[in-house]
Amino acid sequence: MDNNPYIPVPAKLVDVVEETHNIKTFVVEPVRPIVFEAGQFVEMTVPGYGEAPFTPSSSPAVSDRMEITVMRVGQVTERLHALGPGAELGIRGPLGAPYPLDTFCGREILIVGGGVGLAPLRALLFGLLEHVDRYHRIVLRYGARTPSDIIYRDAVSSGWGQNGKLDVRVCVDEGDADWKGNTGVVTTILEPECLSCDPANGVAVVCGPPIMMKFATLKLLDLGYAPADIYLSMEKNMSCGVGKCGHCRLGRYYACKDGPVFTYDAIESINKIWD
Ligand SMILES: Cc1cc2nc3c(=O)[nH]c(=O)nc-3n(C[C@H](O)[C@H](O)[C@H](O)COP(=O)(O)OP(=O)(O)OC[C@H]3O[C@@H](n4cnc5c(N)ncnc54)[C@H](O)[C@@H]3O)c2cc1C
Ligand code: FES
Repeated sequence: MDNNPYIPVPAKLVDVVEETHNIKTFVVEPVRPIVFEAGQFVEMTVPGYGEAPFTPSSSPAVSDRMEITVMRVGQVTERLHALGPGAELGIRGPLGAPYPLDTFCGREILIVGGGVGLAPLRALLFGLLEHVDRYHRIVLRYGARTPSDIIYRDAVSSGWGQNGKLDVRVCVDEGDADWKGNTGVVTTILEPECLSCDPANGVAVVCGPPIMMKFATLKLLDLGYAPADIYLSMEKNMSCGVGKCGHCRLGRYYACKDGPVFTYDAIESINKIWD
């Protein structure tokens, strides 16, 4: 990062991939490499409209090109979705703390994603799959609203599940005539008939909408995961991104600096963590 953490690195939008009706993946090339670790985020500037925090969805091993998967929800993301290749953007970061992957070595890693929450987890998955032999087993459980809301469709439906490197299962809240998979909220595929995991030797990593994270966490505790082994992405509203403005306060923490990933035991006593 530049010495001044508020100055974005100019970046060119080189490709846009339509994932669903309201989610696109933006491929950007910064004028100089941006090295990040899985779990860290960036602030993306859309000139004239503002900036917003996003977690890269591409491999942390690649620093000259970054993919960021964005759901259209408001002013900045609406404008971003209207842009095409050639547009000029800016990137500040990386910001925040990464997943402590060293402590995951030798353990079973259960990744639970909901909706666009799979985007940050894709960077983690790439990072894990690059050194797959370091981990006992990697399991992905992903829930989307409907089949047409599934992001990274090819990878989710076939690619990632090949070669036995990753145990993948997907469910949707509401199926359609062609849907042959599980139906229900994401905790449906955390039930023992869909999941054979070893919580005593495992960590669970969760990212998704707050309500999904809440019920996934309760389910994981029920399955026997220790609060210190449940990693949650706390996507609080952010501004400075560097621990100065207080926008992202979470109890005694700043989500931008101490997070955005926290273990459940660090935050469980804080009021209204799921709001
Ligand atoms: C660390 C971090 C990583 C994130 N990673 C991603 C990602 O990879 N992909 C992605 O699509 N989104 C991600 N988000 C959420 C993203 O930052 C917001 O969707 C974005 O800031 C909305 O900006 P806007 O100007 O379009 O919306 P606004 O006009 O600001 O708001 C529109 C709506 O979005 C809600 N909103 C605004 N900011 C956030 C926020 N930070 N989190 C949740 N809801 C918000 C508002 O409450 C409002 O309802 C991340 C957020 C954080 C804090
Ligand atoms: S966003 Fe400013 S302190 Fe976290």
